[in-house]
Amino acid sequence: MRKSVTLITGASGEMGHGLIERLAANGGSPIITIDLQPLEPSAHGMVERECVGSILEEHLLERILAEYEVNAIYHLAAILSTRAEFTPLTAHQVNVEGTLKLLDFAQAQGESHGRHVLFMYPSSIAAYGLPDIATKERAGRVAESDWTMPSTMYGCNKLYCEHLGRYYAGHYKQLAADSPHGKVDFRSIRFPGLISAFTVPSGGTSDFAPEMVHAAAKGASYACFVRPDTRIPFMAMPDAVDALINLALADRAALTRLVYNIGAFNPSAAEIRDLVLGGFPDADITFAPDLKRQAIVDSWPADVDDTAARHDWGFAPRYDLDRAFAEYLVPNIRKRYSN
Ligand code: SER
Repeated sequence: MRKSVTLITGASGEMGHGLIERLAANGGSPIITIDLQPLEPSAHGMVERECVGSILEEHLLERILAEYEVNAIYHLAAILSTRAEFTPLTAHQVNVEGTLKLLDFAQAQGESHGRHVLFMYPSSIAAYGLPDIATKERAGRVAESDWTMPSTMYGCNKLYCEHLGRYYAGHYKQLAADSPHGKVDFRSIRFPGLISAFTVPSGGTSDFAPEMVHAAAKGASYACFVRPDTRIPFMAMPDAVDALINLALADRAALTRLVYNIGAFNPSAAEIRDLVLGGFPDADITFAPDLKRQAIVDSWPADVDDTAARHDWGFAPRYDLDRAFAEYLVPNIRKRYSN
């Protein structure tokens, strides 16, 4: 008998750390991870097997298939929005072809063990694209079906993969004589910018917020690459991890959509700087907007409408902006860099 496991891709990334901790603490199936980078040593005791390599490598998934029965996948691996603009083809390969490969892997797993495979997919506010600042201001809280005209490769990749997930979940091989039926239980969250006390993102365009607070704690100067009035939604990492787990646990029948917005607070970059200065009064933070990255952030909504997530599966973030800084970010980041 193969052992039943949960697979996490991109496990060494910004979100993986917290997700592994939470899943391991919940005591569900053993965890298998895939990432190009090795896991932090602190995660070793929490996972059954760590595979170092690319999700695009055929043999990695085959080896997992030979030994384990995968019942849930958290597909976190991705090339984020800034980095993707420098290597759009590679971004497509990793973000789209990688996701397609994993969806197909999930379908094959489901067919082989006869049950649905849960597929948790973090999408992004980058799936939106507003044409200009005036429209962004007018649009306010954007609902899932509005303004989905992304201007970045990463945003296009995320939006298309939401559709791929919908296809595998509901329309897979719909014309086949012995239609095998979709075995993928696809669920997705469009995350806002995320701020973690323990990990720093790499290659994203919402990175100005986490970079500002981590630089301040390290005593390094920081020149913020967007204007002070720039506003997009953000969330503290523990709420993002909780949301992913709570959506995974939700009763399928209660879900009215496959893709959900969630949000917690949406400060301007200037408000973030003020909060960072509150925690680290000596921080040296200036603004030096990079017009091209600014344009990307300006195309993302100032806020999102997350009514459906709150209604369908009880999404309710623990941290508002002040609590996120006072109780989670400042104390934990201070401890991290003073060690
Ligand atoms: N944080 C991501 C990025 O900046 C958006 O999902 O690319």
